[in-house]
Amino acid sequence: MNFELIQLPKIEDVRGNISVIEKNVLPYPIKRVYYLYDVPSSAQRGGHAHKEQLEFLIPISGSFDVVLKDGKKEHTITLNKPDKGLLIKTNVWRELENFSSGAVCLVIASGEYDEEDYIRDFNDFLTHQSE
Ligand code: TYD
Repeated sequence: MNFELIQLPKIEDVRGNISVIEKNVLPYPIKRVYYLYDVPSSAQRGGHAHKEQLEFLIPISGSFDVVLKDGKKEHTITLNKPDKGLLIKTNVWRELENFSSGAVCLVIASGEYDEEDYIRDFNDFLTHQSE
């Protein structure tokens, strides 16, 4: 499936750690950064795919699950380390759930917000996949 777990560089220090995203860590120039926070544990976010945009998700704080579907297979990835992110490429349906208390999901996207790039209906997504 069209996704990749990426280990970020981690500068460890007794005073606290630093992880950095720069240079060629992501295969695209950063066009947008947004973050999900104050998500109730029972809430589900996502529920869409992107036609062209790529997104990199990082659990800056806490943990959550990302369910990925391509119409044939399904993977559930738990993100719970701030130095390990999930790159979701095109045409992957994603659902985010099981947010821990205080979890923050940072998203680094390859494009500015564009509703035209979304597929928000799962049946449309399946049709789009088989075209
Ligand atoms: P939505 O895509 O449904 O959130 P998620 O998929 O993460 O659960 O977005 C919720 C609302 O926020 C929707 O009205 C679009 C708006 N929005 C923006 O205006 N800009 C953005 O960059 C994002 C991610 C969402």
